[in-house]
Amino acid sequence: MVSYKDLGLVNTREMFKKAINGGYAIPAFNFNNMEQLQAIIKASAETKSPVILQVSKGARNYANQTLLRYMAQGAVEYAKELGWENPQICLHLDHGDSFELCKSCVDFGFSSVMIDASALPYEENIALTKKVVEYAHQYDVTVEAELGVLAGVEDEVASEVSHYTKPEEVVDFATRTGCDSLAISIGTSHGAYKFTPEQCTRDPKTGRLVPPPLAFDVLDAIMEQLPGFPIVLHGSSSVPQEYVDMINQYGGKLPDAVGIPEEQLRKAAKSAVCKINIDSDSRLAFTAAVRKVFAEKPAEFDPRKYCGPARDLMTELYKHKIINVLGSDGKA
Ligand code: G3H
Ligand code: 13P
Ligand code: ZN
Repeated sequence: MVSYKDLGLVNTREMFKKAINGGYAIPAFNFNNMEQLQAIIKASAETKSPVILQVSKGARNYANQTLLRYMAQGAVEYAKELGWENPQICLHLDHGDSFELCKSCVDFGFSSVMIDASALPYEENIALTKKVVEYAHQYDVTVEAELGVLAGVEDEVASEVSHYTKPEEVVDFATRTGCDSLAISIGTSHGAYKFTPEQCTRDPKTGRLVPPPLAFDVLDAIMEQLPGFPIVLHGSSSVPQEYVDMINQYGGKLPDAVGIPEEQLRKAAKSAVCKINIDSDSRLAFTAAVRKVFAEKPAEFDPRKYCGPARDLMTELYKHKIINVLGSDGKA
């Protein structure tokens, strides 16, 4: 048994309380490799933003859970080296799908876990979430649960259609499970194709897709039911058009990729939404930078020469999110 506290990590409790009171949201960035982690820590340290490092099932399969945990431990030291005296870094399991997986992360030094039983029938979701909460709370590890279903195309997180969270269920769910935060469905989804062209309109000037707004009425109704309770938004990448254009310009093929407009995330961050999950935007930045180097310098074969620019672009992206979208800069 390893306690996250001995690794210099923190859980989400204080982070969320301050974020709700302060009208901002904590960035939850996924990482799968060293360059992503370096970029996240550099951006967080330079802006003094609390941050949640997320490890998905896909990341565990790709990079190994043990290695990722030690990397997160190293990240705390790296943050201090960068001059961040009191780093507020949480290591979180993203989309945990079983009690055993959540338990293994708690036992191994994660400071927060998500049990995503949202695809199960309501009572089964409650039972599994409660079991994880009872275990995790013994070690002061915080637990995120999910109610409602996101549409999406991610490898490990797939559903054809979204079902918005039912506001009338949230009090019962939060009370009976004891979860610390609740991921809800209000129209976000995973990946770089969050809406079909049929769901969007087109900007007549640019020809770009304009997505429909998020269901803020559902969010408002949830907040009314659960005043001050930490709400989480998954699938919150904006799919910046500049990265999509760069990828397409340098030989990629991402037609009609579309995300959540930043002004909608800004609005959400000011509410009880206190954790905003972003993964795809980082993948796009990485890919755009690598493709550019490959196209412009075809003789280059030192991975540092293309992973370095990718890391720089991701750092810029994370800082932009922290400062201009979530408002979490200067809060740690
Ligand atoms: O929620 C999904 C995250 O973007 C993680 O995706 O399972 O492909 O690592 P992944
Ligand atoms: P995006 O695919 O929009 O980046 O969402 C990531 C996410 O929700 C991770 O859990
Ligand atoms: Zn997610």
